[in-house]
Amino acid sequence: MTKLITIEKNVLADFLSSKGLRDRYCKELEAGNILFIPYIPFAFPNDDLQFLFAQRQTGGKNHKNIAYKPKSNTISNAMSLSEQQSKRLLGIMQFYSKSCSTFLSQLLSPYDSKWRIDYASFRPFEEKGRPLRTRARNDLLHVDSFPTRPMNGNRILRFFTNINPVHHRKWITSDPFEVLAKRYGGKKVPFPRKNTPFRALMKIAKKLGLPISLRSPYDVFMLNLHNFLKENEEFQQTCPKNYWEFPSNSCWAVFTDQVSHAAIAGQYALEQTFVVPPSALVDPQTAPLAVLEKLSKFLMVD
Ligand SMILES: [Fe+2]
Repeated sequence: MTKLITIEKNVLADFLSSKGLRDRYCKELEAGNILFIPYIPFAFPNDDLQFLFAQRQTGGKNHKNIAYKPKSNTISNAMSLSEQQSKRLLGIMQFYSKSCSTFLSQLLSPYDSKWRIDYASFRPFEEKGRPLRTRARNDLLHVDSFPTRPMNGNRILRFFTNINPVHHRKWITSDPFEVLAKRYGGKKVPFPRKNTPFRALMKIAKKLGLPISLRSPYDVFMLNLHNFLKENEEFQQTCPKNYWEFPSNSCWAVFTDQVSHAAIAGQYALEQTFVVPPSALVDPQTAPLAVLEKLSKFLMVD
């Protein structure tokens, strides 16, 4: 089961000044553990936090978070704001994204320069009792898979910050990916094959320039597993559970495609996603891709 690896300020200072064990925290993450930083490791202006607390999202059951896309330097899902407010929100998210990247590039230096900095998000709603459709609910245990951003075997590493000035953010974690894949893979959740007539046809259509998004068997499995877990009441109720409370002004990092997790309570969190290729991992055999290919005996990516 998942363990919490706490990195106090003095431990971090020692780690950053020593030359050895650069992969120490990468190994912990790849073992399915959570890195917990009981403080925010960069200066976050209080004015900016107050501004974030005042934000709400556009309505609708499908809008999950306010998202910042570093590549295009844009924000989506935010409520209509004045030009000045939009600029400020963009500036804050940009600052958060850059600060997380700088911090983790030191803590997880073997990944730095190989990862892709994906979206950052701001989560302004209370998670407890939040009215979302089942597959979008954060309070049901799942492993992450993005319906619109296929990973093709790359890892989903997420860094969270609880900016709530008072309340803890509460999580549950359960069985790791390998256990879930062994239990449900090829049974309740089929192993998709790479070379099917349908995929061959889609590839030809894509080559001809048709706007086709062809998900890898890996992404098909990961999304099916994500949906299966959220919709499986027996699993949700009977699986072994660890309960975690992340206090105000703390951060944590985890491979959310490996550690099954649910956010059961808490409001106001920030998050930055990193897409880590298997080639950057200290032990690529721990990656869901390697686990799946071993279990299924199929190749799962093109
Ligand atoms: Fe998740």
